[in-house]
Amino acid sequence: MPATALEQIVSLAKRRGFVFPSSAIYGGLGSTWDYGPLGVELKNNVKRAWWRSVVHERDDMEGLDAAILMNRLVWKYSGHEATFSDPMTDCRSCKARPRADHVFAAQKGREPKGLAEINAAIGAKELKCPKCGSTDLTEARPFNLMFKTTVGAVDTGDDAGLAYLRPETAQGIFVNFNNVLDTMRRKLPFGVAQIGKAFRNEITPGNFTFRTREFEQMEIEYFVRPGEDEAAHQMWIDTRTKWYAELGLRPENLKQREQTRDELAHYAKRCVDLEYKFPMGWSELEGIANRADFDLQAHSRGPSNPDSLVELRYFDQEQKKHITPYVIEPSAGADRATLAFLCDAYDESLVKEPPAEEVAKLKELVASFARSVEKRDAKQMEPDVKARLVGAAETIMAGLPGTLPELLALGDDEGANRIEVFKKVRGVADKLGDDYTRTVLRLHPRLAPVKAAVFPLKKNEPRLVELARTIKKNLQAAGVRAVYDDTGAIGKLYRRQDEIGTPFCVTVDFQSLEDGTVTLRDRDTMGQERAKHGELPAALAQKV
Ligand code: GAP
Repeated sequence: MPATALEQIVSLAKRRGFVFPSSAIYGGLGSTWDYGPLGVELKNNVKRAWWRSVVHERDDMEGLDAAILMNRLVWKYSGHEATFSDPMTDCRSCKARPRADHVFAAQKGREPKGLAEINAAIGAKELKCPKCGSTDLTEARPFNLMFKTTVGAVDTGDDAGLAYLRPETAQGIFVNFNNVLDTMRRKLPFGVAQIGKAFRNEITPGNFTFRTREFEQMEIEYFVRPGEDEAAHQMWIDTRTKWYAELGLRPENLKQREQTRDELAHYAKRCVDLEYKFPMGWSELEGIANRADFDLQAHSRGPSNPDSLVELRYFDQEQKKHITPYVIEPSAGADRATLAFLCDAYDESLVKEPPAEEVAKLKELVASFARSVEKRDAKQMEPDVKARLVGAAETIMAGLPGTLPELLALGDDEGANRIEVFKKVRGVADKLGDDYTRTVLRLHPRLAPVKAAVFPLKKNEPRLVELARTIKKNLQAAGVRAVYDDTGAIGKLYRRQDEIGTPFCVTVDFQSLEDGTVTLRDRDTMGQERAKHGELPAALAQKV
């Protein structure tokens, strides 16, 4: 069973060292997260797979690592200073500050055409505060999403040292267009790829690492002759979709969505979003836009930009003249991609049938939980939460023991935990879960944080321990990230590795000492075979 709620992923991520709430010992800082020992490996593997696919495996791409702090003029001419903002309104009654465009869309059933239309609706008292229902809302004002900082030792109080933390990596590529072109002697078409941090003072961050104020982007700017842009755009839409699919995202969870005319930026010719079916619904994973010549023109010296020192142009040998290339921009989020791979890989299933009497006891407890929920009135429990819990309890009761994974998932539901009898349900379900189900992250071997785990059958048998440690060392020397573990029975160690997505487990037993073979266990099939340990480093290195 895949993850049905983001809470399951959040809970696993925290429990097993993928992602922790940031600065938690001081109460945290809303929507900021730290990648733990396994999370950093996973995210690094995602970034490495991207870099390999878009730079190393192609002939038409270069890499770049531009500074986060740039001259403020970059953000003036890119348009971010004037337009990179969300419209906010204040409720005079309850002091809430919602996003005015969201309020408009939710209450009018369509996107607003602009700030003027939002303010006309506010003036006519047609919009209500989503928190308290009052129509006493202030005029919507743009709230710029860029984080400001000061460069230099003295903050003079004016804008002299003002700089921004970049809200996207893309501009670093545009302003380096001539540098890359000249030093690498490139001919069109060619592209530049960059991975790096970006910062946005998002009004509504949330959904775990999906939308945060500090995040990492993986962006490409691909420069082409005007006229060749549409084919290049389609090439990148296909290439990027294939990348996600090859790394394991299920086809039914991945789709392309054409942006409508209303959504398109004024300069964009076309934009296709790659969307993933996250537990909270279909959401953007990556945007692939045809931005025409907007960016290179905007940063080129000319009547509308007297501050730039250069023209960002290309001398076309065929036409014997300078042209401004068009640009195709596949723009992905490293954190969002990592989250999608985690969600897609998550699987919880029953591995063997629990005894009938234990199942009957659990059924009775779930029935009692359902009765408790039914008794709640609207003041004690929101009607939608009540309906959800009763529905879930009925489905689970009808399908036990097969629905044990669904019941365990309900353990992450805040509503369920508000019901006293659910503690008992959890106690029994967790025990059965430990004995009869397994959680497995079916990550692509290339993305898995740990590729192989090596165990000695007995930890108090020095010869087994020594051989297991040697095998681990040999795997590491071959570039296969491996761990050694002897802190439990083999079954428990397998389950621990399944939960973090380790594709291979190697067990060293007494036969290993005689014939040099070990048990090689596959995470997905749980199949086991004997393999010569001397051959493992090369064989596994190829698979991961
Ligand atoms: N240069 C174009 C650009 O930045 P975007 O759609 O704003 O376009 C591109 O961002 C990608 O960056 C998104 O598809 C998403 O994967 C990621 N992203 C954007 N804002 C984010 C946020 N607040 N938190 C996490 N990822 C974000």
